[in-house]
Amino acid sequence: MADFKNAIELKNVNFSTDDLHIIKNVSGAFPEGKITTLVGPSGAGKSTLFKLLNGLRTVDSGEIIIHGKNINTYPPVDLRRHVGLALQSAPMINGTVYKNIALPLTLNGKELTEETAKELLHLVGLEEELIQRKTKDLSGGQRQKLSIARTLVNRPKILLLDEITSSLDRISQQDIEELIVRINEKYETTIIWITHNLEQALNLGHYTWFLKAGELIESGPIDVLKNPTNEEIIQFVKGEAQ
Ligand SMILES: Nc1ncnc2c1ncn2[C@@H]1O[C@H](COP(=O)(O)OP(=O)(O)OP(=O)(O)O)[C@@H](O)[C@H]1O
Ligand SMILES: [Mg+2]
Repeated sequence: MADFKNAIELKNVNFSTDDLHIIKNVSGAFPEGKITTLVGPSGAGKSTLFKLLNGLRTVDSGEIIIHGKNINTYPPVDLRRHVGLALQSAPMINGTVYKNIALPLTLNGKELTEETAKELLHLVGLEEELIQRKTKDLSGGQRQKLSIARTLVNRPKILLLDEITSSLDRISQQDIEELIVRINEKYETTIIWITHNLEQALNLGHYTWFLKAGELIESGPIDVLKNPTNEEIIQFVKGEAQ
């Protein structure tokens, strides 16, 4: 830990909904400029943790520190700009690629120039001719690239990825993996990547978090997952390999 600066730190974070204690006293950190893979069984609280990290939910107790400042000190719009979120479902509004890519700005009464839109498409490996295409006519892989491009409009310093490749074929999956690594290297973006694909978690993560039933069981360099010594991680890895 000591040799990393942290983009995000959590201190004794708790979160519940209804009668369910979802995030249980989680303390840990996500190192700056690295790719951290966030793994754990279904229902562990991974997606809920993301909602806490980009302000869609608020902690019941404990603290979330983002780049040295308590998350509550960021105005909501600034926080969403700073911490981008991309989801498996890549939700789109009806209309063109351009309309969707510009959405984070148009929602705030601003405009995205066609030139910048094309640069973003280029960055994620989409042809600029697609700019006037209706999003309903895109393939799954193209939609996911567009979703990432849209998240990048605000140049987030931290990017949260929630199972963004799980519905894609292998080629599109590799495309997206290469894209994320490129973004991480080019902009030094801190990436936190939820994935059920253990091979992906091992290949792409510099660092890892293992969450189970709302508890952070272990976090550390990727070796924690590659050569696990923790019994719960050993069981998880065995289960995933079957
Ligand atoms: N809005 C909500 N109201 C009540 N319970 C919720 C809500 N959102 C999530 N939960 C519950 O919280 C727990 C954690 O859910 P979460 O979606 O964070 O898990 P996850 O680790 O992302 O799982 P998966 O790998 O299946 O996506 C689950 O038991 C889920 O049913
Ligand atoms: Mg989830």
